[in-house]
Order: sequence, then C-alpha cells, then structure tokens
Amino acid sequence: MKELLIKTEKLNKVYKLLVEEIYAVRDVDLEVRAGEFIAIMGPSGSGKTTLLDSLGCLTTITSGRLNVLGKDVSQARESALVALRRKSLGFVFQDFLLIPTLTALENVQLPLLFARAPQNNTRAVELLERVGLGKRINHLPKELSGGEKQRVAIARALITSPKILFADEPTGNLDTKIGEEIFGLLMELNIKDNLTVIMTTHNPKLGSLASRVIYLKDGRIVSREDSSLFTY
Ligand SMILES: Nc1ncnc2c1ncn2[C@@H]1O[C@H](COP(=O)(O)OP(=O)(O)O)[C@@H](O)[C@H]1O
Ligand SMILES: [Mg+2]
Repeated sequence: MKELLIKTEKLNKVYKLLVEEIYAVRDVDLEVRAGEFIAIMGPSGSGKTTLLDSLGCLTTITSGRLNVLGKDVSQARESALVALRRKSLGFVFQDFLLIPTLTALENVQLPLLFARAPQNNTRAVELLERVGLGKRINHLPKELSGGEKQRVAIARALITSPKILFADEPTGNLDTKIGEEIFGLLMELNIKDNLTVIMTTHNPKLGSLASRVIYLKDGRIVSREDSSLFTY
C-alpha cells in the first residue's frame, strides 16, 4: 500500500453564523494515499470547497479527526496550519489569484518568500517551462490568457515541492477546451511526477478521468447513485 497522506474520521465543519449553524461537511471518513488523483464532486453548496479547505488546512475543523502528512491537526490553531501549508501543500483556485503587479516569474517565486526559503530563479523558470510557459516568464497576469494564468498558478503551487496539490474548480473559469488542457496538465503531473492531486470539479467528464471520485451531498460522502449529480 502506498503511503497514507491524509486520514479523516468523522470530520465535521460547521459555520456558526449569528442566527444559524451551517453543517457544511458532515462525518467525513476518508483516506488519501500517495499518488492518488481524487475528484470531489457534487452540487453547488454540497461542501466541496469546505472539504477541500479542511483537508488542505486552509481552515480549522469543528470536530472529528484530521491527520495530514502524519500530523494530527484536528485541533491545530491557524498558526500551525499556516506552517504546514507553506511547507508541504500547494493550492490552485478557480480565479487563479495571481498578483497583478508581479510577472509570471515573480508570482511563481512568491510562496518561497512566505516559506522563508531563498528565491530560486532557476527552479521558477524550469516550472514555467514545465507548464508550457517558457516564453511568458516576464509577462504580467493581464498579458496572459485565462489558461496561461492557471498554468502560472500551477507552477506557483509547485515551487515549494508540495506533497499534495489542492485545486478548487481549477477549470471553472475556463472554456471547455482550455479547461481540458489544464486538467490534462494536472493529470500529467500526477502520472509523470507522482504528484498527489485533490480537486473539486463540476465537470463529470473530468471527474471520470480521476483515479477516484468522491461524491458529496449536503456535506456527506454519498455513493454515486445517491449523488443526484445528474440533476444539475
Ligand atoms: N465562510 C462561510 N461561512 C458560512 N457559510 C459558508 C461559508 N462557506 C461556505 N458556506 C456554506 O457551507 C455550505 C457548503 O459550501 P461550499 O463548501 O462552498 O460548497 P461547494 O463548494 O460544494 O459549492 C453552503 O451551504 C455554503 O453556503
Ligand atoms: Mg466550491
């Protein structure tokens, strides 16, 4: 069996608002092993982003157990989560989230700054070449297409050599063809570089290409048949 990277037991995330509590993730039991490519699917509001953020230590959990890369972070404070994220986890978002005033090369190097690691021009250039942007390294985000921006974001996520890449609807803001290219790049990184990938997607075609699909409904993991995936 491959190395266990994430294990959850009865993981719950509740958003406590002024007058109501929203159970966004409920009793999730999950194991993620090295080399997996997991797609989290389900209708809008089913808890995909909240589950991804919980696994990626982008948010504290409400109850249950969460172990990430051998660390029990069930009750970890934000500061401990930050350290784990910066050192070992990579993130890609639907909106790319590039810094508009920085070039592609500078955007890619930014996580090194937060991780207090030395700037590494060579590796940043290599990564930009790896994602097919060798000719765009000095471009600003506004000078790049949507697909190119997402490629920069992927290179940026990889600069710290994360053990797991988390991607929240990485193709959600791209048209079908470009979205499939970005997904293909993530698949290639998974297969060739053995990068573990956990992504959320609305796209059943892309989900079906993942090594495993997790269907969510009302915050719970459900079987494919119960997922009502085909009703939206
Ligand atoms: N920061 C938040 N504060 C309060 N409620 C939230 C917050 N983020 C998400 N929710 C709620 O939690 C539920 C799950 O949301 P989310 O994880 O974003 O679902 P999905 O990504 O599947 O669309 C929804 O009911 C949503 O309104
Ligand atoms: Mg979402």
